[in-house]
Amino acid sequence: MTKIHKPNSTTMFKRAIDNMPLGVADSYRYWGEENTVFLSSMKGCTITDCDSQTFVDFRLAYGPIILGYRDERVDNEVINAITSVGTISGFSTGLDSDVVELVKSLCPNIDKMRFSNSGTEAVIGAVRTARGFTKRNKIVVVEGGFHGLHDEVMWKSDVDNWDVNAQEVPNIIPFGGGIPQSTREHQVSVPLNDSDAIDAVFAKHGNDIAAILIEPIMGNCGSIASTQEYMQKLRDICDANGSLLIMDEVKTGFRVAKGGAQSLYGIHADLTTYAKAIGNGYPVACFGGRADVMDTISFDKNGVTHGGTYTANMVALSAAKATLTVLKETDALETINLTGQAIQALLSRVFTKFGIEHCFAGPDAMFGVHFGPSVPQNYRDWKQTNSDLYTQFALNLIDNGVMLEPDSREPWFICEAHQTMDLKWLEQVAEKSMEAAINASDL
Ligand SMILES: Cc1ncc(COP(=O)(O)O)c(C=O)c1O
Repeated sequence: MTKIHKPNSTTMFKRAIDNMPLGVADSYRYWGEENTVFLSSMKGCTITDCDSQTFVDFRLAYGPIILGYRDERVDNEVINAITSVGTISGFSTGLDSDVVELVKSLCPNIDKMRFSNSGTEAVIGAVRTARGFTKRNKIVVVEGGFHGLHDEVMWKSDVDNWDVNAQEVPNIIPFGGGIPQSTREHQVSVPLNDSDAIDAVFAKHGNDIAAILIEPIMGNCGSIASTQEYMQKLRDICDANGSLLIMDEVKTGFRVAKGGAQSLYGIHADLTTYAKAIGNGYPVACFGGRADVMDTISFDKNGVTHGGTYTANMVALSAAKATLTVLKETDALETINLTGQAIQALLSRVFTKFGIEHCFAGPDAMFGVHFGPSVPQNYRDWKQTNSDLYTQFALNLIDNGVMLEPDSREPWFICEAHQTMDLKWLEQVAEKSMEAAINASDL
């Protein structure tokens, strides 16, 4: 990113750095002293920074915005709920069941559900429920997957520092300080789409595996997806060993299809987590699945405890009800898919023009862009793509008014409001950005 003079952003950052570590409320929002973004408004598919630069946004807050920023169909329901009913009371209203019934009507994998406030909390709830049901501890996770910021899943495969030519598997390292080694005790990780690896893990630990926890389409690893065969393999191996299959659909749920990734595979998880698109930007999440598994949440002696002060508050529930109703009753997701296809087509024209080998991973509503000859099958394959060229291209796009994460592990997110954008303009900007990326270096 070139440093464009942004006086208001500079002032904002100087103030923020005295108030918050790194000057931001979430460490991933820190883009360096000169480039950390401060916004003044968001609308539709655009965001405007405090220096009045407007961007078409494909980052969409890491995925929650499915309809568009400030969508009145959702906002009006929230305003109505909090002004006519209230926010929280520590008791239930009928709105809880309204939302669960909507989810059940879209997702046949859900019999019963519980709410939470974030994807992280939903994963914690699902894993605890799986452990309570199976009375086992071990969780199998997939390299390159992301399941939120709680200690137990804050261990990652260090592919960044891995030598692709070495025979060794990548090291597993913590996200940083403050994560006790003991939180790794019950976790085993495997590369995606490697049937032998999952067989070996079950041969060694089968009797103690509570669950496989997987993003079916890795929304935090360039939308690299499980193959149909691999997903079936996971389903079968869980069934054969009395383990549960947990699909983390925090990014894919209510985005890649009305019934999420599971409806694309035709394979059901025992437990599923949802967040992000379920509320079009309002903080709402949930987990659910088989009734017999979910009913482990109880006051029995060995029952699983779940809850929280803000769980199923009226802001969250009314936003979810409104968003799910729009997704269920309109062709918003079809519109999103068509827009995603058109954007991939124009990007492909640009990459081809410059002779760049490229491929797209994942569904049209959240596609990954990879510079290489074939779609990566797992995180280790991603390392072989030209991600440095992608980063340079993305930084140039940002300079030219297109916002996205400058890391090819984060997909391009599409919302319904993108249908109004000028695709010719985007193609011109993409061309200019790729030309500059190539000229800037010999990447
Ligand atoms: C697949 C997945 N699971 C869990 C989470 C954690 O969600 P949250 O940030 O709402 O805690 C994320 C966040 O990006 C995610 O992508």
